[in-house]
Parts: sequence; structure tokens; C-alpha cells
Amino acid sequence: MGSVSETVCVTGASGYIGSWLVMRLLERGYTVRATVRDPANVKKVKHLLELPKAKSNLTLWKADLADEGSFNEAIKGCTGVFHVATPMDFDSKDPENEVIKPAVAGMLDIMKACLDAKVKRLVFTSSAGTVDAGPQGKSFSTNPIGVTLNFCRTVKMTAWMYFVSKTLAEQAAWRFAKEHDMNFITIIPTLVIGPFLSPTMPPSLITGLAPITRNEAHYFILKQGHYVHLDDLCEAHIFLYEHPKAEGRYIASSHNTTIYELVKLLKEKYPQYNIPTKFKGFEEDIGNVEFSSRKLKELGFQYKYSLEDMFVGAIETCRQKGLLPLAHDESKPNGKPNGAA
Ligand SMILES: NC(=O)c1ccc[n+]([C@@H]2O[C@H](COP(=O)([O-])OP(=O)(O)OC[C@H]3O[C@@H](n4cnc5c(N)ncnc54)[C@H](OP(=O)(O)O)[C@@H]3O)[C@@H](O)[C@H]2O)c1
Repeated sequence: MGSVSETVCVTGASGYIGSWLVMRLLERGYTVRATVRDPANVKKVKHLLELPKAKSNLTLWKADLADEGSFNEAIKGCTGVFHVATPMDFDSKDPENEVIKPAVAGMLDIMKACLDAKVKRLVFTSSAGTVDAGPQGKSFSTNPIGVTLNFCRTVKMTAWMYFVSKTLAEQAAWRFAKEHDMNFITIIPTLVIGPFLSPTMPPSLITGLAPITRNEAHYFILKQGHYVHLDDLCEAHIFLYEHPKAEGRYIASSHNTTIYELVKLLKEKYPQYNIPTKFKGFEEDIGNVEFSSRKLKELGFQYKYSLEDMFVGAIETCRQKGLLPLAHDESKPNGKPNGAA
């Protein structure tokens, strides 16, 4: 696997992770079929079309997880598929039908298309929520999928439907892969932070930059947080796709840090945001929780970036794109400029 003449498909290609992954695949020499829901929406695809080698090696394909069979054409003729797309509407009024159902049905639809097209390997971008959406305080490495489903459905914390959708999608995918003896790999990123190409505020930066924007509903995810740089994550996708011995589930996470350690770093770099240092309900001496990426490292993958690289890259990109104000403004309820997600 991994020869430059290969054609691969990336679903959710316009998004935060998808677009960076497309960029890295094109650089490597892959021919990329990028699926998006609306190829005619210039605002959402311009950053893909402007990538180096896009003119010769990139095509856009219309596909929707809620539309059965819509990935078939894009996948036919590919040797590999990176399934990155997922519904991310955390404010959905109908989470079962708008988030959970398309994530699970779309996953299985893509697997059937891969089977029909005799795709050699399918890499699925899963979520740390499939192993860690429950009460914190433990260390995680090889937990089974689904231990926190009941917790999410009962507590209904921010993004609960997303955690449920990813968990059910991955569970269904493993059943299907085993039944059909498919070459299937999942990569489990923790919170992805870093500079980016997509035009709008990425969902993970709404969480990661919450201390700057004062978005308190997301603080619980940062309390004992786990992070991976966007570029490290995309390199890990390609590493796993190309590695002949890759199998099963791989956590991609390079740093653990508490919200107190994080705001210390952010305050030093960006004093103009007047970032809070006290967080109601979080003891000041909370320790770090390990989210082990040992399996990926043992296969030979090396992370390149520091926590500071992640946050400075993300903040600088947001500032350049007008998605974050240049300083905190007490007169705005959460310090965000209008329309910044
Ligand atoms: N960012 C993180 O911290 C993080 C952490 C763990 C896992 N992940 C996983 O990484 C993947 C990408 O996330 P992201 O952070 O890049 O989010 P994102 O920027 O919102 O990208 C998600 C993409 O999914 C597509 N999508 C949404 N609903 C769809 C549907 N019904 N049919 C087809 N495509 C649909 C969107 O494409 P269009 O709207 O352009 O069609 C969008 O480009 C997701 O699977 C997510 O679970 C992310």
C-alpha cells in the first residue's frame, strides 16, 4: 500500500481534519477523491480546490451519509478509503435522526461500497468519546467500545449525541468488518488542535479555545484534557493506511493536560485574552489522566508537535481568518466576534 499511483477516497473532505488530510495525501502523490455534501458550494470547497496538485490529482464527489448509496461512485476504483465525515450538529433538535442515525447508517453504507469496490483498506476516524465520555478520573488505553453509552444518554452533557453516534457507528463497523473479513482500522483522536485550512470555526476549537471565548459548557472536556496536533493526526492516518501490520484500534493522542495547566500556557502566550484562572467545581490540584497512544507508537509512529505548537497554530489561524477577536472584549458576552461559530 501507499504507492504514488493509488487513488483513495476521503469522506468529509471539506472539514477541519478532512481538508488537512487531503493536502497531505496530495503531497504524497495520491490521487484523491474528496466527498462533500455540496461540491457547488464554493465557500466550502475553495480551500480544497486551491491545494497544490489539486488541479491534476483531486476530484470532488457529492455524497451524504443520510443518502444511501451516495458514496458508491466515489469509492468505486479506489484502493483505500478514509472515512472522516460525521454529522457535528451538537444543537440538533432531533439528535437521533439528524446525528446518530446518519452516522451509523452512513458508516455501514460506506463499508458496503468498500466491499463491492474491493477496497484494500478502510480507515475510520473514530472518537475518544468511544472510550472516554464517562465520569473522568481513570486512565484509558484499551477500554472496550461502548462503556459510556448509558452515561451519555442519561446525563446528556454537551455533544452527548455525537459521542453516542461515534460509539454506535464504530460498534456496527466492527461487526460488519468481522462478518465480511474486511481490512478495517480505526483511529481514535483526542481533541484535535492546530492550524487549519477550512473556512469556519472547527468544532474542536470551539472546545479547545473555550477558555478564551468563555464557552463554559465545554470546560468539562478540558478539565483533564487530551490533545493531538492536526498534522500529527493526519500523518497518523496515512501511516496506518500504509503500514502492512496495522490492525484494530489506535488511539492518537500526544499530550495530557489539566485545564489549569492549559490556561497557564495560554495566558503566557496571549495575555490580551485575560483568560480566567478559576473554574467553578474543578479542584485546583486535579491530576492528569493518561490517554495512552502506546499501540500507535509501538508500531513506529512518532509525534512531532508540542502542546504550544497546537494552540499557537490554532489561535493564529483563527485570528487570521477573523474567527477570534484579537483581544478579549468584556462588552461581548463570550468575547466572540459576530458569527464566529
Ligand atoms: N476535531 C476533533 O477534535 C476530533 C476528535 C476526534 C474525532 N474526530 C472525528 O474526526 C472527523 C472529522 O471531524 P472534524 O473535526 O474535521 O469536523 P468537521 O470540520 O465538522 O468535519 C466534518 C465533515 O463531515 C461532513 N459531514 C457532516 N454531516 C455529513 C453528512 N450527513 N454526510 C456527509 N458528510 C457530512 C461535513 O462536510 P460538508 O458539510 O462539507 O458536507 C464536514 O466536512 C469526525 O468523524 C469526528 O468524529 C474529530
